[in-house]
Amino acid sequence: MISLGIESTAHTFGIGIVNEKCRILANEKKAYVKKESVGIHPREAADFHYKNAKEIIENALEKANLSIKEVDLISFSQGPGLGNCLKVGATVARTLSLLHNKSLVGVNHCISHIEIGKKLTKAKDPVTCYASGANTQIIGLEKKRYRIYGETLDIGIGNFLDVFGREIDLGFPAGPVMDKIYFKGKNFIELPYTVKGMDLAFSGLLTAGKQKIKKERKEDLVCSLMHNAFAMLTEVTERTLAHTGKKELLLTGGVASSNALREIMKKMCKQRKAKFFVPERSVCVDNGAMIGWQGLIEFKAGKKTNLNESMILPKQRTDQIKVNWI
Ligand code: FE2
Repeated sequence: MISLGIESTAHTFGIGIVNEKCRILANEKKAYVKKESVGIHPREAADFHYKNAKEIIENALEKANLSIKEVDLISFSQGPGLGNCLKVGATVARTLSLLHNKSLVGVNHCISHIEIGKKLTKAKDPVTCYASGANTQIIGLEKKRYRIYGETLDIGIGNFLDVFGREIDLGFPAGPVMDKIYFKGKNFIELPYTVKGMDLAFSGLLTAGKQKIKKERKEDLVCSLMHNAFAMLTEVTERTLAHTGKKELLLTGGVASSNALREIMKKMCKQRKAKFFVPERSVCVDNGAMIGWQGLIEFKAGKKTNLNESMILPKQRTDQIKVNWI
């Protein structure tokens, strides 16, 4: 069975093609990036996706050396995400499904990150720390649901890094550059550390960081700011491991690329004798292959999305999905 997955929740339009063994036959993508902008303009990002969709589909099929006839299943990100962007992926998915008479499966974007991460790293029942631009959640499987143990109450940790990076003229995405600067920090600067119960808040830290630009050495400020954000995330993740008794941690999402975050999480896992897993970068970031894989395992468990159920769900939550494929 071959599944073609369509990702379009935010700035990335991705087409991935996977088989039943989770071999990634293609994982093509293009991201809407505007260095001078103030983040993602949803309508412009959606226009970008419409303009590039055809070429990315063709590239993916060519890379996989397949024709659309050989694809069995069309999977797409149904939510959560930006409405304008999600609509492009859903429309492309419905079109391909109708035109070529293929089954359609709408999937949850966050859960797709977890399932492909598990499959490729061989983690069995991990606590997942999903850290990306828009999402920051600590998730674990409990009674046939992916329960969210802790999450951001305001902005995603990736968004937090990007906004601060823009303030110090690093462009977009700022995360990779900030990650290099992090290791040049020498003096720790006092900044807010906001953990509320099991949840996190980054906007106070962001504001305090902005106020210290030009007053402190850039390397020290970036390092202290990132250290607090990552320590907050690690604290809640550790408490989730303790509460659930799970012995594995899966770190995924775009921010999982950060060596600074990996280092802190790895250290925490070592101390509590938990196994630490991070998928390779092309699978951590938003991509079509994870959507293809999620669609495939749900289809095998009996799921099919009819046209009248294929509307986008921008606010869909990880814990709304009944997990019947495990
Ligand atoms: Fe994501």
